[in-house]
Order: sequence, then structure tokens, then C-alpha cells
Amino acid sequence: MNTTIVKTDRLLLRPFQTGDGLHFFQMNADPKVIKYTGDTPFANQDAAHRFIETYDAYVTTGIGRWAVIRTSDDAFLGWCGLKYHPEERVVDIGFRFYRCYWGQGYATESAKAVIHYAFHTLKYPFLVAHAHVDNAASHAVIKKCEMLFVKDFDYDGISAKLYRIDNPEYTLKQITAEETWPVRHPVLRKGRPLEDVYMEADEKPSTFHVGMYHRDTIVGVASFMEDEKDYFTGKQHRLRGMAVLPEYRKKGIAELLLKKGENMLQTKGCTLLWFNARIAAVSFYKNLGYVTVGSEFDIPLVGPHFLMKKELL
Ligand SMILES: CC(C)(COP(=O)(O)OP(=O)(O)OC[C@H]1O[C@@H](n2cnc3c(N)ncnc32)[C@H](O)[C@@H]1OP(=O)(O)O)[C@@H](O)C(=O)NCCC(=O)NCCS
Repeated sequence: MNTTIVKTDRLLLRPFQTGDGLHFFQMNADPKVIKYTGDTPFANQDAAHRFIETYDAYVTTGIGRWAVIRTSDDAFLGWCGLKYHPEERVVDIGFRFYRCYWGQGYATESAKAVIHYAFHTLKYPFLVAHAHVDNAASHAVIKKCEMLFVKDFDYDGISAKLYRIDNPEYTLKQITAEETWPVRHPVLRKGRPLEDVYMEADEKPSTFHVGMYHRDTIVGVASFMEDEKDYFTGKQHRLRGMAVLPEYRKKGIAELLLKKGENMLQTKGCTLLWFNARIAAVSFYKNLGYVTVGSEFDIPLVGPHFLMKKELL
């Protein structure tokens, strides 16, 4: 694959190629290069070649780490790019360079270009980065990229600092019921009359709606309505109308909407959030701490569902 991912004044980033194995072997053989990474050197050149040949992130996640090439002489300087972490459901930015190319601004130049690509082309709402607490050079690059410190944490046994940068083209905010319609209608009431988007509790004072705007376009919505189910106890709210436009899915937007709603509910003293979840969305909710209650049931015109809930403590 020879496609250029991004270009800068001095660099281009492209997917790894078979011949990059030698560079991976040489870079990781330098103890100073891998000192803070938790990685070990490749056993031999064949092991590095096998790593490149079996690197499947581009296919499985549509993103990956990319080779950083200096355009003036085609020199392979190192790598920089993105990685999806399914456990934490975040995309991180990372980089590594041959020691002889340190101190010349290549890491910052490539990382800034990758952030721009992640935000403008891939439309990710945010990125994270982490670095070993003592890796001063990495912290400097991350800060030059305007990423903000979030917390100290344990990254696979390494004491690390976590940073984050939010895509300024997104706005997550409370919205009106009507503002949900451009997403609610095509996603949840497709092919049905526009008036079908209306939910009876939409305008109640205890109901609130949250939306994610990308520039001026609403791309994701969720509504939270007071609704006490006899089955449950505590101060309850019900989630309804959770939807994200297809081209904005699998970027973490629904998770951000749900967390915003959960936080708002907690400040209102609500102790339980429940809803009827479409089958296709059940695993998404489970990964965010929701559990199913009882067995599958059918909602006419919509399809099979599960009752789900989460205690908001
Ligand atoms: C369900 C729905 C709201 C989820 O929206 P979304 O914005 O894609 O949700 P998220 O991106 O937060 O999470 C979806 C999945 O993408 C994953 N994901 C998040 N960021 C990712 C990334 N950068 N790369 C790859 N996957 C990513 C999440 O881990 C999650 O995986 P999981 O389902 O295995 O848990 C959306 O699919 C939708 O509108 N579906 C149709 C309507 C619907 O079913 N609504 C729910 C009614 S109950």
C-alpha cells in the first residue's frame, strides 16, 4: 500500500511496507529509543519483518501507525499515528523515531499533522496520548500539540501520564426536542411520517435532550425522560431516542452523549437510568456498564428489544 496519508512541509506519512522491517529492527535495537515504551527489541530482523507483515490495524480499524518519511531524501525517520484501544474505547496518538532524528521537530510536525487528519478527515471527537512519567521529550511533543494533561495512570505496568485533545469542530450540549428531529427521524423513524418523531414526554419540564453538533450539523442525539417503572426503585429516568447519523458512528459520539446525560441526571439526584434497547445496541450499552433485565421482547414497528438499566451512584 503506497497511499500517502498526510503531508507536511518536510514529511509524508504512509502505511508501513514490507521493507520497513529493517527500520523497526534497528530502531527497537537502540535501548534509548525503547527505554520508556515498555517494548523489547525484536529477536532478529525476521521477527521485525513478521511484525510488519502481520500488522492489520489499517484493515481492522481503518487507522494505524504510519511510517514518517522525509520528502527531501526519502529517509525513513520513524513512525507516528493512531491506535484504537477497544477496552478504553479511545484512539491514541503515538510516535517513535530513530535517535539520530531527535531534536529536529519531526515528532511534533508529524503528530500535529496526524491530529489534523484525525479531526478533519476522520472526524474523531477527541484523541488521547500517554507517555511514561519520565519521558520528558514525549511530554514536550504532546504539549506542543496542545494536548492537555488528564491524569497519572498505570499503563500496562508503566507509570504514565494521560493527555487529551478535543476536536473543536464538535459541540456537545443540551438541546430542544425539535433539534433532535434531523437525527431522530432518519435513524429511528426511517420511512415514517415526520410527526412520528414526537414522543409524548418530549416537552415535559423534567425531560431534557442532549445533542452533538459537528460544525452546524446535529449528528447525534439522546433524550432523558422522567419515567418510573414499577419494576424498579429509586428516582428513575428513561433514555429514549438515542441515535447517531451513520457516517458519524464508531467514533465514540453515543458514549459522549450518554455520559453527558448520566452526569446531568446525577446532579438532579436521579439514581437509575433504564430504557428499551434495540438488539443491535445491547453490546454497546453493556460495555458502558448497563445490564439487561428479563428476556427479549418485541416493540411493534421497531423490532426486538431488551429492557436495560444502570444504577447511577
Ligand atoms: C447505537 C448507536 C447510537 C451507537 O452510536 P455510536 O456513536 O456509533 O456509538 P460509539 O461510537 O460510542 O460506540 C459504538 C461502538 O464503536 C466503538 N468505537 C468507539 N470509538 C471507536 C473508534 N474510534 N474506532 C472503532 N470503534 C470505535 C465503541 O467501542 C462501540 O463498540 P461496541 O458496540 O462493541 O461497544 C448508533 O449505532 C445508532 O444510532 N444506531 C441506530 C439507532 C439505535 O439503535 N439506537 C439505539 C436505540 S436503543
